[in-house]
Amino acid sequence: MINIDELTVDHFFDPSSKNFIDDPKPTIEKLVKEFPIARFNAWSAWLVTGNKNITNCLLDRRLSTDFNLWEHAPPKKELADMDAFEKLMNNNLFFLNRSNHLRLRKLALPAFSPRIMEQMKVRFTKLVKERFDEIGKPKKFNFATEIAEIIPTQAIASLVGIPRDKFPIFDSLAYGVVRGINPMLTPQERAEAIEGVPAGLDLLNELIDEKRKNPSDDFLSTLITAEEDGDKLSNWEMCALIGAVLGAGSDTAVDLHSYLIRALLSHPDQLAELKNDESLIQNAISETLRYESSGKTGLARYASEDLEILGVNVKKGEMVQLITSTAGLDPNAYENANTFNIHRSHDKSISFGQGPHYCIGVTLVRSQTEVMLKELFSRFPDLSLSGKMDYDYKHHNARRMTILEVETNLN
Ligand code: HEM
Repeated sequence: MINIDELTVDHFFDPSSKNFIDDPKPTIEKLVKEFPIARFNAWSAWLVTGNKNITNCLLDRRLSTDFNLWEHAPPKKELADMDAFEKLMNNNLFFLNRSNHLRLRKLALPAFSPRIMEQMKVRFTKLVKERFDEIGKPKKFNFATEIAEIIPTQAIASLVGIPRDKFPIFDSLAYGVVRGINPMLTPQERAEAIEGVPAGLDLLNELIDEKRKNPSDDFLSTLITAEEDGDKLSNWEMCALIGAVLGAGSDTAVDLHSYLIRALLSHPDQLAELKNDESLIQNAISETLRYESSGKTGLARYASEDLEILGVNVKKGEMVQLITSTAGLDPNAYENANTFNIHRSHDKSISFGQGPHYCIGVTLVRSQTEVMLKELFSRFPDLSLSGKMDYDYKHHNARRMTILEVETNLN
């Protein structure tokens, strides 16, 4: 008989604490070694840790992403009573039930084809060059705010085809989608966060209408023309998909940029190898995601029926958080897991998920990061860390760096 008190981790696990944000590794290592499954009362949730355990949960159909199955979910509103933000979330790929998710994902996939990704890369390369032109040739700059915070939303904007002068409207939509999703916000904070959503939706609807009249071969046109057995995406569904892409693809990529640069500049021998052999860039990206998982929470799942996980009875409606940061530091999956090594094999990686919800933006984020990295080191070949660094200790879900100052060492 399992004693729940012995599984409780509230006494040492606090992902919002300064200690955890500064150095999460000791806590993550303790979780993965001693608690394959744990109880975390602060979230009223079960936590699952370790590479194999999390992979098994991702593939277990009884664990759903459908937020409405959660025992503490607020009652679902009728469509007519929902505000614009709620309608977006209602169609969000992350939270749909299985059949709706399958349908939407099938219709969306052609818009992420290699051909469209190649188009995006061309548009995006231009934007990256412009960004670096704006930065110029300073002695030092803050990589976190000057590059990492800007590039990911611009990559998604260039994918969607947002005109350059409308970027601020798209940025506000991105802010609303990423921040408004946090259930812990007060009503006032939520209202402030989602202020820019209606204008962002107007912009998307205008673009969709324009593309309906003059279709081409780009992302939006592909979404508009996508069809499965006579079924098509509605405007709301397209907007919600773009919202999901913003929600999933901005925060995660911002952190990847900062952590990648910090890891490479902290390991000059490996950086030198990578500069000589650019085919190592993709492995360095995988290694950064393994070694420096920036999320403070995990992937949420809700039990669609009573089930047993690692000897614990999980009841229908309970939340199970898959603590993905433990997957990369699991000694059963990686030798010397605490060492950054860009030559490591990543066959067991679940940084982009596994199973039906596997990341739809993996090619986009890999491509945008590679473009940024090459441009960065072509402009600043002798870049180094200045040592000035800080985190946003209040960030809602990530160990977000606010300062990562770099020295350009230009003559
Ligand atoms: C470093 C960056 C990224 C990481 C680490 C990452 C990771 C993930 C993970 C772990 C999942 C699975 C979630 C789950 O099972 O609950 C996922 C899903 C998803 N990702 Fe990413 N992602 C990244 C960037 C992106 C980008 C750039 C985009 C869009 C262009 C994107 C779009 C999505 C979408 C739409 C889903 C939901 C797929 C579905 O539910 O079918 N992601 N991502």
